[in-house]
Amino acid sequence: MSDSTKNLKSAIEGLYAASTVNNPVDARRIFADFRTRLTSGEIRAAEKVVTHNGESRWIANPWVKQGILVGFRLGELKQMSDGDVLSFIDKDTFPARRLTLSDRVRLVPGGSSIREGAYVAPSVICMPPMFINVGAYVDEGTMIDSHALVGSCAQIGKRVHLSAAAQIGGVLEPINAGPVIIEDDVLIGGNCGVYEGTLVRARAVLGAGTILTRSTPLYDLVRGEVYRATPEQPLEVPENAVVVPGSRAVTKGKGKAGEWGLSLYTPVIVKYRDEKTERGIELEEWLR
Ligand SMILES: CC(C)(COP(=O)(O)OP(=O)(O)OC[C@H]1O[C@@H](n2cnc3c(N)ncnc32)[C@H](O)[C@@H]1OP(=O)(O)O)[C@@H](O)C(=O)NCCC(=O)NCCS
Repeated sequence: MSDSTKNLKSAIEGLYAASTVNNPVDARRIFADFRTRLTSGEIRAAEKVVTHNGESRWIANPWVKQGILVGFRLGELKQMSDGDVLSFIDKDTFPARRLTLSDRVRLVPGGSSIREGAYVAPSVICMPPMFINVGAYVDEGTMIDSHALVGSCAQIGKRVHLSAAAQIGGVLEPINAGPVIIEDDVLIGGNCGVYEGTLVRARAVLGAGTILTRSTPLYDLVRGEVYRATPEQPLEVPENAVVVPGSRAVTKGKGKAGEWGLSLYTPVIVKYRDEKTERGIELEEWLR
């Protein structure tokens, strides 16, 4: 971490810990610096580190979430309308990002918005309507399809396909949520929901309609294992896993469960990515 980032981190932590804002002008200047660096991708809500045994881990930077919350606290409501038909009102600290040609992000017209403080790499494609919230990091070549949400601080890797209506949860609410992480080359099928800090490893495929939270056990039919989140670690989807929505028999409260014949939704790893999967999810290069 550079010296200037260290200074910024301690300034943000100071503002977050203070019960009142003593010097709003100074606080806004610090926040503006913080938001600019989030927008440029220089600082991130979570970072990948490679451990000494070659494994990769994601480390959340809690001070980044604190900085975002400081921005909400400092912000005043502001009229943000561009014309006279539509009216938008939001905290002045989080305006919609103004993209320019030099950002090299294609944003198709029709009701999409990217908040300031979200990094979106050149070559990302955004189909309307979609929303990218503050603190999100969206890497090169990723496609965000219509009705998709990239929640606050979510980290989306390279060449990810977020299909129509896929919802990637954020960290701002509930208050203890960690950033959701989607690594490179993942396909998130239509209508999926990935929430509460879930980590989806590289090249995994989530079949349409898969929901992942801290409370959903993930059954791996190939390896015969069940993956769960722990108090310290989020639910993790292994590399190359193909996950589809499934169901399992209710085992608790057996008497009634048997009588009622209930089952609960559960995600299931049915296979690991193979040639058939590649054919099924192949993307049209010419659209890019
Ligand atoms: C997951 C997906 C990619 C299929 O992958 P695949 O490697 O071709 O999977 P296969 O067809 O080999 O299926 C493997 C097993 O999983 C089952 N399966 C596959 N997709 C499933 C799904 N969505 N729900 C439940 N079961 C599913 C198959 O029936 C098969 O089980 P079986 O052998 O007992 O019949 C596909 O189902 C999917 O969801 N694609 C995303 C579609 C989408 O959202 N597109 C958005 C474009 S905007």
